[in-house]
Amino acid sequence: MTNVLILNGPNLGRLGTREPDVYGTLTLDDIQATLESEAPEGTTIDLRQTDDEATLIGWLHEAVDTKSPVVLNPAAFTHYSYALRDAVAIVTTSGLPLVEVHLSNPHAREEFRHTSVISGVATGVIAGLGADSYRLALQAVLARVS
Ligand code: DQA
Repeated sequence: MTNVLILNGPNLGRLGTREPDVYGTLTLDDIQATLESEAPEGTTIDLRQTDDEATLIGWLHEAVDTKSPVVLNPAAFTHYSYALRDAVAIVTTSGLPLVEVHLSNPHAREEFRHTSVISGVATGVIAGLGADSYRLALQAVLARVS
């Protein structure tokens, strides 16, 4: 049994009504339902969201302890949280895959979004494809777990 953690940072609990022209109209519940419907047998989806940096870091530590692959949308933490970067590095240096995802394409947006302090320690990055970013990331992490 593989439990995949789908971790979401600040303001992503507002998906559905938050800037729909940028993020679309799907909610996190919708994304969870899609991932659950596509997860292969023997895979469970554990989708969580928090606005709190410490909670997100705790969940990454938990991923290491439970040997769970991770799909992470760090939201605005992407652009400045060295603490989150260090926690992501703990995950990936332990041998677990962690794919950074974004609904939007940060490189096509404001300058401050062009920097990710996370990407350099992530296994890979998928951005700009809306909910498909999560679907592709799920496939990618599952292809990388032994
Ligand atoms: C985001 C992009 C970030 O720049 C932004 O702060 C978010 C969402 C995305 O999924 O496109 O909150 O991570």
